[in-house]
Amino acid sequence: MNQDNINDILLYDETVFKDVTVFNPDYIPENFKLRDGQIREMALSIRLLLQGGKAINNLILGPPATGKTTAVKKLFESVEYNYSNKIVCIHINSQLHSTKFDIFSQIYKKVFGHTPPETGVPFARIYNSIMNELSQKNMALIVALDDINHLFSKNVISEVFYDILRAYESYPNVKTAIFAILSDVEFRHVLDKNVGSIFNANEIHFSPYTYDEMSMILKERIKLGFYPTVISDELVDEIIDYTYSSGDLRLGIDLLCMSGNNAEIRASKTITDDDVTKAINSADSMSIEYVLENLSQQEASMLYFISSLKDKNITSGKLYEKYNRKNKISYATYNRIINKLEFLRLIDTTYTGLGQKGNSRYVALRFDKEIINKQLEDKINN
Ligand SMILES: Nc1ncnc2c1ncn2[C@@H]1O[C@H](COP(=O)(O)OP(=O)(O)O)[C@@H](O)[C@H]1O
Ligand SMILES: [Mg+2]
Repeated sequence: MNQDNINDILLYDETVFKDVTVFNPDYIPENFKLRDGQIREMALSIRLLLQGGKAINNLILGPPATGKTTAVKKLFESVEYNYSNKIVCIHINSQLHSTKFDIFSQIYKKVFGHTPPETGVPFARIYNSIMNELSQKNMALIVALDDINHLFSKNVISEVFYDILRAYESYPNVKTAIFAILSDVEFRHVLDKNVGSIFNANEIHFSPYTYDEMSMILKERIKLGFYPTVISDELVDEIIDYTYSSGDLRLGIDLLCMSGNNAEIRASKTITDDDVTKAINSADSMSIEYVLENLSQQEASMLYFISSLKDKNITSGKLYEKYNRKNKISYATYNRIINKLEFLRLIDTTYTGLGQKGNSRYVALRFDKEIINKQLEDKINN
């Protein structure tokens, strides 16, 4: 293909997408419905702070794609807009920023508008600069730590929480709060174990969306993202059904985008049944059945063993011990299998903060036992 051809493709102005950005993972809907109750509850905790009361922590819980991140960002937007002289709000993605230094660098950046010098600055200096600045300006600090399970693995969570929440000990007029966001309720006990009594929080729950709610959200996204008549009602329903059965709204948004892309590849101005099927197939290929089918015998056997355990949260060491009684494998092999199963998102492992070096892990199944056992029994018995 020559330059001109490539340029033709890039410039081709016939498209199914009115606004392709509404399908981006970081898109924030202008009109964000269905989470008024939760936003209100969070806002009330900030109101107390504005009225001179104490800072209240929130623990935000709910399955993936239930609007937790969006709700917090929406709230922070308005607080920032109206009270930028009183409160600094910062949202931090713990997957991207998972060390204490990194997290405080983000806070520093928010407070000062530029990152701290890269090298040679001790943590204490960054910390003190932040708190001094807040103290002088008489401002409060609210830090949203999103998907905090990523902080468990590096064992930094207790220090980060402590440093944020105990700022008042050295800076008496600085009020600080944490909004901790957690997608997996299974991890509740890990959080409690790690941050214990320093983190007194008001709990806010995001329940899964109903069929009608998912339908409404997806239809709204279609209206914003596609030109009219690009996708038929039947195909929309197919995508909604699929999304609902997966339980993952994010998947539905991806399917819309992929279906649109498939139409563009054909240079068509409408999405066909085929475009949707292709999108669903490629999503399916990532789905659990497919993943299970492609496990090695050893991996399948380990997963089956885990799912047959009575103990829902077993430590990695105990699991090895039990498994090894029946099936002799080396610890290195065992570790490789566990890491693979976690990589495939079939299990979660969480650092307990205990053990020698603090690297003992809990192992927990991510899926319903029944789903896993049914499919694995055939595989293992063959
Ligand atoms: N009430 C809603 N209205 C519109 N879009 C929503 C709503 N809730 C979630 N979404 C969309 O679903 C996706 C996941 O939302 P997000 O806030 O990231 O969920 P979580 O943080 O709970 O995993 C995003 O694309 C978001 O725009
Ligand atoms: Mg989120």
